Amino acid sequence: MLLAESLKFCRAETLALFTTVEDAIFCRQLHPEFSPVGWHLGHIAFTEAYWILEQLQGFKPIFSEYRQLFAADGLPKTERQKLPSFQIIEEYLQVVRDQVLDYLAIAPLEKQERLWWWLIQHETQHRETIALLLQLSRFQSGNFPKIARNSMGATSGQSSDMITIPSGEFLMGCDRVQAQDNERTTQKIYLDSYQIDTYPVTCREYQRFIEKGGYDDPNHWSKEGWQWKQKNLIIQPLYWIASEERADHPVYGVSWYEASAYAKFIGKRLPTEAEWEKAASWDAAHQQQRLYPWGEDLPDITRCNYGNPIGQTTPVNSYLEGKSAYGCQDMLGNVWEWTDSWFAPYPDFQPYPYPGYSQVYFDQQHRVLRGGSWATGMWGLRNSFRNWYHPWVRQILAGFRCAI
Ligand code: AVJ
Ligand code: FE
Repeated sequence: MLLAESLKFCRAETLALFTTVEDAIFCRQLHPEFSPVGWHLGHIAFTEAYWILEQLQGFKPIFSEYRQLFAADGLPKTERQKLPSFQIIEEYLQVVRDQVLDYLAIAPLEKQERLWWWLIQHETQHRETIALLLQLSRFQSGNFPKIARNSMGATSGQSSDMITIPSGEFLMGCDRVQAQDNERTTQKIYLDSYQIDTYPVTCREYQRFIEKGGYDDPNHWSKEGWQWKQKNLIIQPLYWIASEERADHPVYGVSWYEASAYAKFIGKRLPTEAEWEKAASWDAAHQQQRLYPWGEDLPDITRCNYGNPIGQTTPVNSYLEGKSAYGCQDMLGNVWEWTDSWFAPYPDFQPYPYPGYSQVYFDQQHRVLRGGSWATGMWGLRNSFRNWYHPWVRQILAGFRCAI
């Protein structure tokens, strides 16, 4: 998709999330790790004005009164609740966007394309945070979406199925203009043979872990994980509703600690991000990388659950068309998947567009997630895309699959 079109679609998806948001929710900090949804909206406008109008076009700041409020390094997260109304922020977005589109018509894109794609992905990521916060707020008020009957999968999907990935080299990472700094550069990686789950771990499987006392047995847990669990009185995933209708949906709302405890309980482990990426992207027959599990075609609703229209998870075996070359399913969309890897730079890493984007998180405190969720926009959906969070975060739309 072209740049101007992508900017437009991306923004439409962002604004669509706000059609049902009440004023009280707009400004509220729903969880200490996250800013209010209204702050994210203002931050999207601020970031667009800063990078395009100030840095590329060389303009003086417009709405400079918003700098402190909406810059990432402006105010602490707890002080971001005194916000302009949705209407005012929407106008801010529009004024910035009008100028940005005027500039796009004359901008030397051959030199700037990477920054423009970065910006679209920046909005995409903040939109996902908005979506997960709205889900959190619905969950807190008991309004969790019902499962539509027709979204139930065939229960024949045996989530315990595993696929053997033969030993050998593959290409990891991405050098395309859309790639983030942390995805670069492409490198040849050799992996020994391993097995990886065909599907993400389902609620049915995870329920067994709960019923067998998984949350009561320190043997399954790392020391930090057990301490975290005890201190926070964790007894089940955050977005947990035990029901037959959800049995084939991926479990989500789990921290990395819970994911790795489950893996240990079942006699497996979490995949490294290299293992995850090879299973998703490597086409061994052609010795080629694929941008998406199914190939090069852009994501669409026949291949994965992404971009929010469904508004929740789908059964893990719903998208045969989205299979990877090795046969793994549900690699993109539905739920993010925790990996065993710390977020760390690839060889020849160069920060872009600023060190605070990725580099400051190379601190052995953040675990990598792969694959995107039902709320990830298509610009953040690809095999090489890396997301990262502290291992205790469980508000994000994250599940996992296991490896051996
Ligand atoms: C990679 C999703 C953790 O939202 O904090 C947004 C992405 N960086 N603005 C975040 C990001 C700067 C980041 N995550
Ligand atoms: Fe940001």
